[in-house]
Amino acid sequence: MLNKMKLWKNQKTSSTLRDKIEQIKSRPVPEHVAIIMDGNGRWAKKRALPRIAGHHEGMKVVRKTTMLANDLGIKTLTLYAFSTENWKRPKNEVDYIMKLPEEFLDTFLPELVDNNVRVKMMGYKDQLPKHTLRAIEQAMEQTKHNDGLILNFALNYGSRAEILDAVKLVLNDYKDGNLNENDINEEVFSSYLMTSEFADPDLLIRTSGEIRLSNFMLWQLAYSEFWFTEVLWPDFREEHLIEAIEVYQNRQRRFGGI
Ligand code: FPP
Repeated sequence: MLNKMKLWKNQKTSSTLRDKIEQIKSRPVPEHVAIIMDGNGRWAKKRALPRIAGHHEGMKVVRKTTMLANDLGIKTLTLYAFSTENWKRPKNEVDYIMKLPEEFLDTFLPELVDNNVRVKMMGYKDQLPKHTLRAIEQAMEQTKHNDGLILNFALNYGSRAEILDAVKLVLNDYKDGNLNENDINEEVFSSYLMTSEFADPDLLIRTSGEIRLSNFMLWQLAYSEFWFTEVLWPDFREEHLIEAIEVYQNRQRRFGGI
């Protein structure tokens, strides 16, 4: 009896979710969603588990979120997986996070391929362990012909460094005579950033109740809608992404106009 009730409850929930997904899809969906996945450590602490258990659980949520984003017709999902400042964490934690892309892709790459998801990465590749970079590059190669959702991992990414590097590249092109001062505008500057191939995020989500950007996409988020939730990343579920998009769809974006 209990099992039957549980099943019924799940079926009811999933049909409600299905309805919501269809409703969302009937209205403009954000093209680019960026997520600061925060709260893995606190999730683990609440359960008296090591912090890395929170990261492992967080990895599973990456899969579910990717699949739903793909289903919703979102074009790009950028996930902040590791910042240029995260190297300050204990070595065992950093080592563990650096193994997650391999585990994630070993487990889910076939599913990503089947679902037409294209894997990309932005961040400083040089400092990444070889095994981490190899896994990401293999996934990028194997999914390069997919034209569904772009799953863009921000790994060893920092926005201030990205902007400074773009300034240096602009200066070099200026010195080499490939760029005139009057040609430098927002669009041109954007083309020197790591996100040059993507539209700016329409929606930024941050979990775990922290209300800050933590050096994430500072230029690109200038006109994005923000949605913050107290939910810790490992507890983030389909209904939370749906809620964020519903809120987004009810906001009026004015881009500085009236
Ligand atoms: C922030 O939570 C989370 C991170 C720095 C790591 C995020 C990584 C994942 C969610 C897994 C990524 C998966 C792949 C496939 C790359 P925190 O540790 O700062 O949490 P806390 O603020 O509660 O301590």
